[in-house]
Amino acid sequence: MAPRPRSLPSAECGQLEREGTVKDKYNIYAPVYDVLSGERAVYRAGRIQGIDALDPRPGDQILDIGCGTGLNFPLLQDRIGPTGTIIGIDRSPGMLRQAQRRARLHRWDNIILVQADLISLDASAVMEQVSGQGGTPASDGIIATYSLSLMPAWRTAWANIQNLLGADPRVSIVDMQEPYGSARWLAPLARFACRIGGADIFAHPWQFVEEDCVGVDSRSARGGHLQIRAGTLQHRHE
Ligand SMILES: C[S@@+](CC[C@H](N)C(=O)[O-])C[C@H]1O[C@@H](n2cnc3c(N)ncnc32)[C@H](O)[C@@H]1O
Repeated sequence: MAPRPRSLPSAECGQLEREGTVKDKYNIYAPVYDVLSGERAVYRAGRIQGIDALDPRPGDQILDIGCGTGLNFPLLQDRIGPTGTIIGIDRSPGMLRQAQRRARLHRWDNIILVQADLISLDASAVMEQVSGQGGTPASDGIIATYSLSLMPAWRTAWANIQNLLGADPRVSIVDMQEPYGSARWLAPLARFACRIGGADIFAHPWQFVEEDCVGVDSRSARGGHLQIRAGTLQHRHE
């Protein structure tokens, strides 16, 4: 069971601002992300399924990879409770500031926010930061919603992330592909939405769950546009 960590102190929030880069569109649009991202109409359905498939338990420490503004946090909190911990990792200071705002608004003191690029991740530095704020170095599970498809080198991100996980962690990936079947006519709209968001709709980053995990739970929503894969990553006994 994870000890209760502190949330990111406001002093560190100021530091995030200075480290921001104008090249990152999420940094710029972070304040309006929740309104403009199609959350209610489309994407919330995927995170609900993804967290249900992850099946986090009270007291778990869950990594939220590319956590953005923290839209997963309320659903995760319902599962892990006050004795659990959420580690939100994102490279965008603007998105992390919104996540921090959400945590403060709800008075959640079990969230640790870490600014890091998952492609060039220094796992030891992240674990040190997490431990320094009251978390445990290795997490029990990981959720990534609509973030890996933004990373052309998502396989590198996956390799890096594994260094932050404990034994037999649960993994849940929610990402996008073209809708199919009777929803196929919506494919141009889905491609447009992904292009605007900088996501590669053909990346299909949930592949690693199918390749590396056991007991894979496979789901889809919104005409197949949202793909959910969850499972248990084995071979991590150290
Ligand atoms: C489309 S948003 C999704 C945010 C959140 N997971 C959600 O479900 O609303 C993608 C997020 O991934 C983050 N991201 C993209 N590439 C990243 C990288 N290489 N390392 C860390 N975060 C990254 C972005 O900053 C952004 O916050």
